[in-house]
Amino acid sequence: MSEESQSRSDVTRIAVAGAAGRMGATIIETCRDLADIVVTVALEHPGHPMIGKSMDTCPGNIETGKGIHCQADLELAADDFDVLIDFTRPEATLNNVEVCRRHGKRIVIGTTGLTSEDKDRIQDAASVTGIVLAPNMSIGVNLCFTLLETAARILGQEFDIEIIEAHHRHKLDAPSGTALRMGEVIADTLGRDLSQCAIYGRQGQTGERSSETIGFATIRAGDIVGDHTVMFAAPGERVEISHKASSRRTFAAGALRAAKWIVQQPFGLFDMQDVLGLRTRDS
Ligand SMILES: NC(=O)c1ccc[n+]([C@@H]2O[C@H](COP(=O)([O-])OP(=O)(O)OC[C@H]3O[C@@H](n4cnc5c(N)ncnc54)[C@H](OP(=O)(O)O)[C@@H]3O)[C@@H](O)[C@H]2O)c1
Repeated sequence: MSEESQSRSDVTRIAVAGAAGRMGATIIETCRDLADIVVTVALEHPGHPMIGKSMDTCPGNIETGKGIHCQADLELAADDFDVLIDFTRPEATLNNVEVCRRHGKRIVIGTTGLTSEDKDRIQDAASVTGIVLAPNMSIGVNLCFTLLETAARILGQEFDIEIIEAHHRHKLDAPSGTALRMGEVIADTLGRDLSQCAIYGRQGQTGERSSETIGFATIRAGDIVGDHTVMFAAPGERVEISHKASSRRTFAAGALRAAKWIVQQPFGLFDMQDVLGLRTRDS
């Protein structure tokens, strides 16, 4: 094998679903700086104004996606990519998962707002192909998941736990997938069931706080990329674990790292803890 073809086989070809969206555009832009990953397919829904147009006219992506035309049919593009990166909406993600399952294509899913039935379908598809599903692709947030497990284990049942998140005004789901995952990590560590102990917002005569609950508070405002704080509060002291994202590039870089990683996995459902090697033996 020549040196040139050797280096080409190291290049991962990416299809980006939601290519004209905030995350899709950032992924295409981030790929410009990488030698071992190339965007070969840009997808949007059939009614999108970008369909048929070159991605170099995509707002925010002047020149970065040159040569790629936005298309609506993943099936037709099945031979043209190795990994699909999907940051869209749940219904679009599930359709794309079915196509990838049929063609044995790996998938990185960043879409949030998935129901437990949606996740079951993704788990099912993971029996035949490799899938990374993560509500937050940033290294910092994934480190926070590990820190939260430690904090919950040490602070135990004695501290009240509240999760506060803030995002931009366009976000469609609440609480964020990241906040919910933080709640799951803490609940699992404490032996609680999040569906039983979560309190989503408070209003009116709420009565005293039960120590068993995990509270969620949501802020939607302006252009906040994504802030999360978990507060562990007891009489006399308070521990807060916070993460603040200031650029979507951090999520895009994580998604691309996940894409490079998942091509090595024939099948199975993974998250960013797996990709980043943060999973502890008992988690
Ligand atoms: N995992 C992470 O690290 C992470 C980070 C950031 C965001 N997210 C999640 O990623 C998702 C997208 O976020 P975003 O801020 O990029 O949203 P966005 O700007 O609205 O982008 C979503 C894109 O998907 C398109 N779309 C909608 N339905 C589609 C379909 N059926 N097929 C193909 N494309 C479709 C949208 O088109 P229209 O504009 O015409 O609807 C839009 O271009 C959200 O669920 C968000 O919570 C995850």
